[in-house]
Amino acid sequence: MDPRTENNPYLGFIYTSFQERATFVSHGNTARLAKQHGDIKLAQICGTIASDEKRHETAYTKIVEKLFEVDPDGTVLSLADMMRKKIAMPAHLMYDGSDDALFDNFSAIAQKLGVYTARTMRTSWNFWWRIGRSRSSPGSLARAEGAGICVRAAASDSETGGESAA
Ligand SMILES: [Fe+2]
Repeated sequence: MDPRTENNPYLGFIYTSFQERATFVSHGNTARLAKQHGDIKLAQICGTIASDEKRHETAYTKIVEKLFEVDPDGTVLSLADMMRKKIAMPAHLMYDGSDDALFDNFSAIAQKLGVYTARTMRTSWNFWWRIGRSRSSPGSLARAEGAGICVRAAASDSETGGESAA
């Protein structure tokens, strides 16, 4: 899978901060649903994975926060670049040998059950955008601003049954 980070560490760390948060949220929500439906073992497994993914999210978040500290303009422009490209999850390429739309179907069900929704993506965007707005120059912010529109549009599409932002 090509996450379109172009061997650029800014893009790579931003992508990973989103991806790790997504895996934390989705495993946590799967654990919750498994528990609600009586599968305690699955809930424990997913809960353990979610804890691990939370640690990954924390690590990559600290790295991106540091990038915003030392190079706010470069980081906010990289954030905008990744948002415009859309952040595709690694599961995007999963295939069971028969269903060509396996990920789309999986994604639609995950969205419907609340395991992973476009809101999670939007929350991540809002978190980084608040930091970017407080640190970056007006010129860079103006160049980056359109990316927020991409995020909101993707979230709206997804929340109304369109393509998932994940
Ligand atoms: Fe991870």
